[in-house]
Amino acid sequence: MTATPRGARPHKVQLGRSWAGAVAGRALSARGVRNGSVAGGRNAVLSVQSVAGGVKADAAKAEGVTAQNGVKYGVRLVGTGSAVPKHVLTNSDLEKLVETNDEWITTRTGITQRHVMGPDESITQLGADAANKALEMAGVDASEIDLIILCTSTPDDLFGSACTIQAAIGAKNAAAFDLTAACSGFVMGLVNATHMMRGGNFRNVLVIGADALSRYVDWRDRSTCILFGDGCGAMVLSAVEGNCNMLGFDIRSDGVKNENLVASFFTNGLEEGATTNKATSESAASTMGSYQNICMTGSEIFKFAVRAVPQIVGSALKSAGLEVEHIDHLVLHQANQRIIDSASDRLGVPKERVVSNIAKYGNTSAASIPLALDEAVRSGAVKEGDVVAMAGFGAGLTWGSAICTWGKAASSE
Ligand code: UT7
Repeated sequence: MTATPRGARPHKVQLGRSWAGAVAGRALSARGVRNGSVAGGRNAVLSVQSVAGGVKADAAKAEGVTAQNGVKYGVRLVGTGSAVPKHVLTNSDLEKLVETNDEWITTRTGITQRHVMGPDESITQLGADAANKALEMAGVDASEIDLIILCTSTPDDLFGSACTIQAAIGAKNAAAFDLTAACSGFVMGLVNATHMMRGGNFRNVLVIGADALSRYVDWRDRSTCILFGDGCGAMVLSAVEGNCNMLGFDIRSDGVKNENLVASFFTNGLEEGATTNKATSESAASTMGSYQNICMTGSEIFKFAVRAVPQIVGSALKSAGLEVEHIDHLVLHQANQRIIDSASDRLGVPKERVVSNIAKYGNTSAASIPLALDEAVRSGAVKEGDVVAMAGFGAGLTWGSAICTWGKAASSE
C-alpha cells in the first residue's frame, strides 16, 4: 500500500470519488481482497476485516472497478442524538460522600461533573429521547426503522430495553435487541449493524449506546464512584446502493483479564441443603440474587487502555486503507482524560482533532462515544465527509475501533 506522506493529508474536497477510490484501490490490490470474503472469516476479527475489504470494494466499484464480493449496499451515518439525566453530581458533591476532592478528581481524570439518573428516569426514556433526536437529524421516520440495537450493560429489565425503546418511539416495523459489550458496546453495535445492513435486509438502523452505571456504583468506593455518569447517545444508519461510509473496523476481547472490571451476579436464595436453584417442586426455594457493585482494578484498566487503543485504531485504519493523518476526529471512549491524551499522543493525532467531553459527563460507558460524537456533530465541528475514528474499551475485557466517513453523501461523491 502506498502510504500517504505525513503532512500531505488530502484536503476535505479531495475526500471525493477519486481520493476514496484511489485509497480503496490501493488497499484492495495490496491485500488481495478475496471473493466472498464475508463468509470466509477465520474468526470475528478476520471476518470484520474482510467486510471492511468489501466496503472498499464498493468504493472501488464507484471508480469503475468491479466489486468482487457481491455486496450491494453501503452504510451512511446520517443522524445522531443524545440525552442525559437531569441531575448533575459535581466533584464537590462527591466530597460529601467519600474522602476525595475536586483537585484530585480533575487532575487524575479530567472529570468535573457527571449526570446521574433519578428514580423517575430510565434507560428506555433516555434511549427514546436520544433516538428521536437522531431520527429528526436523519430525516427518517420511526416507522422506517427496521432494526434497533441497544448497546448497554444496564437495561431497565433483565431481558433488555431495546423493545421498550422501540415501543416508546413507535418504531413498529423494527426488530430490536440488546447487545452487551460494556464500554466497547457502541463500536460492537456499529460493526453488527454494518454487517446486517450490507446484506440488504435492513435499510434504516438505530444503534443506541446507553448506560446507567450509577445503578451499580458503590457510593462508598472513591476509586470508582468519581468516574461514572449516566447518559445515552444514538445514531441512525441508512443503507444505500453504492459506497459504504463505514470504512473499516477491528474488534477484540480478552476474557482472561475479566476480573479487572466486574459487577458480578450473586445468588443468595438457596435454601439449606438445596443443590440447585431450579424449581423441582412447588416447595422449591425461589432464587434471590442481584448484581454486585462495580469492582475495578483501575491501574490495570488504565495500562490496558493506553496500549490497546492505539493498537486497535491502527488496525482499523489499516483495514480501511487509511493512515493516522486521515483522521479528522478521534472519538475515544471517555473514561479518563489522561487515557484520551496518552492514546492520542501515542497515535500521533493532534489535540485539535481529539473529541473530549468527559469533563461534563464522566465515563458513561456504552453511551460515551455517541454522546461525544453527537455534541461534535451538533456543534458543527464534524462536517459532511469528515473521517471519524472511534474506539471503545472496557469490561470483558473488550476493545474495538470503527473508522467511518460522517454524513449522507458517499465518500466518493
Ligand atoms: O470504562 C471502563 C474503563 N475504566 C477505566 O478506564 C478506568 C481506568 N483507570 C483510571 O482511570 C485510574 O486508574 C483511576 C482514575 C481509577 C485511578 O487513578 P490513578 O492515578 O490510577 O490512582 P491510583 O489508583 O493509583 O491511586 C493513587 C492514590 C492512592 O493513594 P495512595 O495509595 O497513593 O496513598 C489512592 O488511594 O490516590 C488515592 N485515590 C484517591 N484520592 C482521592 C484513589 N481514588 C481517590 C479519590 N480521591 N477519588
